[in-house]
This record gives sequence, structure tokens and C-alpha cells, in this order.
Amino acid sequence: MPENHVIQIAPSILSADFARLAASVKEAIEGGASLLHVDVMDGHFVPNITVGPPVVASLRKAVSTDVALDCHLMIENPDQYIPAFADAGADWISVHQEACTHLNRTLQLIKSHGVKAGVVINPATPIGTLTEVLDIVDYVLVMTVNPGFGGQKFIPSCLEKIRKLAAIKSTIRTGFKIEVDGGVSLENVADIVRAGAEVLVAGNAIFGAGDIKINTERLLKKGREANLVQV
Ligand code: DX5
Ligand code: ZN
Repeated sequence: MPENHVIQIAPSILSADFARLAASVKEAIEGGASLLHVDVMDGHFVPNITVGPPVVASLRKAVSTDVALDCHLMIENPDQYIPAFADAGADWISVHQEACTHLNRTLQLIKSHGVKAGVVINPATPIGTLTEVLDIVDYVLVMTVNPGFGGQKFIPSCLEKIRKLAAIKSTIRTGFKIEVDGGVSLENVADIVRAGAEVLVAGNAIFGAGDIKINTERLLKKGREANLVQV
């Protein structure tokens, strides 16, 4: 059983109505969201195209600086764009292990901008590929769907990966947060937290249907309750 963590909800704006983005994210923040997850896709690393630094800059102006902007770069050649995301106001930037030939260099580049550096792994990528960078990252983002689209189903075998990563984390002095992304819902959030996740990305579960504030409150409550249950 992993130790109790601070559980945070990171609404993924990918599932929001972009025409009323500021209002939608404010509702999620009122519901308890403490960071906003921005999915950046280039149509090459993943088969979809989304948003870039201008949207990050607009969000930075629209929400309080207490709310961190968590930019998940699903792009090839991220080094070329990291400075622009940092300048736009990103607080956290993550890059895919699968997209970085010189992963250590890329993570150092993120840190050199005073931004929290994260590494992401796809569902088919083993935890072992991260061994040499775990002591320099601020967080590891475990994908629990294949990246590219919101609203997909959580891949159950990924729970075991989260458990393995949490076990390794407990042996590392520097520590890092474990973030989980893809198919997070009221049905599976307790299992995900018990496996060791602390930062829960949710798109469809927050913006898909119903009231954004209530959806956020419910997910956060269920995640926090699971965090307090000792099994
Ligand atoms: C997928 C993205 C996710 C996605 C999450 O490529 O990285 O952040 O938007 O959306 P849901 O919660 O709907 O799976
Ligand atoms: Zn994401």
C-alpha cells in the first residue's frame, strides 16, 4: 500500500468546449482542480492536432497563478518548442520517452527554464526505460490509453505499471510525482489512487457530460477517499 499522497485533479482541456474555454476551466477550478492539463499534439507523434503556446498564454492570463499549467507534449522534436511553452507560462512540461533520442538533454532543457520536468510513457513502454532519468524528473506521467484522443477506455494492465513505479519511487531519495492520463473515471479512480497515482488527468469525466464543477468535486472526493483507505 503506497503512502498517502496529496491527490490532485488535472482536467484535460482537450475535452472542453474551446469556444468557452476560460469559463469551463474556471468551473473545474471551483470544483477543486489545482492544475490544468494541456494536450499538445502535432499530427506526427500522434494522429491528431491540437493546440500550441498561444493557448497556454491565454490560459495563463485567464486563471490564477496558483493553478499550474501542465503541458503534455505529444510531439516529435520537443526541444524545438520547449522554450516557447515555457515563455507562454507552462509550469510543468512533459515529454514522451518514445519521442526523445536524448532524453536527459531534453529534461535538462525543461528544467533550465525553471519549469517542472516530466517524462511520459505509452502503455506499451516498460517502466525500465526510465531507470536512468528517475532521479532528475519532477514527475512521471503513465499513459493509460494510447495517446491521441480523449474519451478512450482505460487499459487495465496499466494499473500494474503504476504499482511497479510506486514501488520504485519509494526507494528513490529525490522523489517524483506519479501522474496518470487516459480513461480516468469515477469507476476506476479509487483503484488508480490505491496503485500509487497522485495527479489524475481527466478529460471526458470532467467536460464530457453534466456539470463541470460537480464532476470535478466528485472525482477529487473519490480519489481522496481512496487515498485515506488503508487496505
Ligand atoms: C490523450 C491525452 C489525454 C486525454 C484524457 O492523448 O493525453 O490527456 O485527453 O482524456 P480522457 O480523460 O477523456 O481519457
Ligand atoms: Zn494528456
